[in-house]
Amino acid sequence: MTKPATTTQAGAPIASDTHSLTVGADGPTVLHDHYLVEKIAAFNRERVPERNPHAKGGGAFGEFVVTEDVSAYTRAAVFQPGATSETLIRFSSVAGEQGSPDTWRDVRGFSLRMYSEEGNLDIVGNNTPTFFLRDAIKFPDFIHSQKRLADSGLRDPDMQWDFWTLSPESAHQVTYLMGDRGLPLSWRHMNGYGSHTYSWINAAGEVFWVKYHFISQQGVEAMSNEEAEQLAGSDADHYRRDLFRSIADGEFPKWDLYVQIMPYDEAKDYRFNPFDLTKTISKKDYPRIKVGTLTLNRNPENFFAQIEQAAFSPSNQVPGTGISPDKMLMGRIFAYPDAQRHRIGPNYNQLPVNQPHASEARNYQHEGSMRYQFNDAAHRTYQPNSYGAAGGPEADPSKGIEVNWEADGEIQRSAATLHAEDDDFGQPGTLYRDVFDGEQRARFLETLTGQGRSITVDAIRERFFQYWTNVDAELGAALRDRV
Ligand code: HEM
Repeated sequence: MTKPATTTQAGAPIASDTHSLTVGADGPTVLHDHYLVEKIAAFNRERVPERNPHAKGGGAFGEFVVTEDVSAYTRAAVFQPGATSETLIRFSSVAGEQGSPDTWRDVRGFSLRMYSEEGNLDIVGNNTPTFFLRDAIKFPDFIHSQKRLADSGLRDPDMQWDFWTLSPESAHQVTYLMGDRGLPLSWRHMNGYGSHTYSWINAAGEVFWVKYHFISQQGVEAMSNEEAEQLAGSDADHYRRDLFRSIADGEFPKWDLYVQIMPYDEAKDYRFNPFDLTKTISKKDYPRIKVGTLTLNRNPENFFAQIEQAAFSPSNQVPGTGISPDKMLMGRIFAYPDAQRHRIGPNYNQLPVNQPHASEARNYQHEGSMRYQFNDAAHRTYQPNSYGAAGGPEADPSKGIEVNWEADGEIQRSAATLHAEDDDFGQPGTLYRDVFDGEQRARFLETLTGQGRSITVDAIRERFFQYWTNVDAELGAALRDRV
């Protein structure tokens, strides 16, 4: 079979992909070799800015099937019995850059998109049910402390522990991070959590608070510090390779989605503030309810177009789902689309991977850099207009169901109200003593000993001992002894 002719971007056949146009065989290259210029110019623009944070990752497509009936809690089409949605997932690490080793100890991102008939629903979470902070205003400082020093460009344990030990609300998440969850065996061997409390609304208009838990059918497994260190040198793309290979081999990873459901009125007096994502909601108080199963069964055909340019955002909610008064989550609603307008471009949502697949985007937004979708000529550029259906769509409150809540009070800057059992060190202490088993505690102590030894500033090391003493007095003493 003869190959089709190579062309310029404008579709004209080109003469050569091997030889530039030159004056004689040995003379200077001429600027009017338009194809050479186009080819190099395209190459020069191949990279878009990497995500800040969560730059290194990998992903795949799949499907989410609802196997149970949770219609009592949500009217969202995507969660109705038997519903099947195409999905996109991206796993990531937080602090490292695009080329960083997958097996550096870190929290792992778990970003899921469900392309539903009511629009794209994104659940942009991590492999831990909590987070380091509870107010969005601290997030840039936190990420700076995990990235690199301004002068040397090096990562720095002093800077990390300085920030953490001055931010006691981080203790729960740092306990997860320094434990087994910080080094998963693979992306397949970790759970995914929405982390924040989100909201659902049912057909009768009743609102519930919801936590999403994706539980791995492969099991939750970790690797040792030594194994991670060795892999960081020998195969920096270990997790990315594992995911791609397993799907290519037909070994499709699966997760069961469970939710914890809290009736709207119970949030007020629950023993932990459910809108503080440094806390978990007890499974004894609110047991997990199964919803369905996620299966990853299709590798990307093009990593850049489908994974690098994927733009997940917690602002992508659908009728029947919503956010909550969590101050971090509200900050994220602004942060993601803003980052993506900068990282990819203002029309990033028109890219095939970001467009709705099972519904249609219809509105009066138009133009802007790289716009390629446009409305019919009869479609007005404004609304309201008097041109009927041809003139364009109209907002329909019976379809655009939002989940809202009551809020009242003076506008102010302050910490969220503490609930009866809220404190920064209680839940991490329980995690360390009652959830970790003996071997996990031993590995945790070994990891923290290494961390403590890497701190070079005495005052920060002292705060490190105090921080872990607050989590557990014996742990603090053991660290002081060993470090
Ligand atoms: C106010 C707090 C936060 C801010 C301002 C923030 C901001 C960002 C930004 C700007 C990105 C890059 C987005 C892109 O370029 O496409 C990102 C990625 C990400 N963030 Fe956050 N983040 C916050 C908190 C969180 C929390 C609490 C979680 C988990 C529960 C989280 C999970 C992720 C994940 C998984 C990604 C990668 C998304 C992907 O795979 O494309 N972030 N974040």
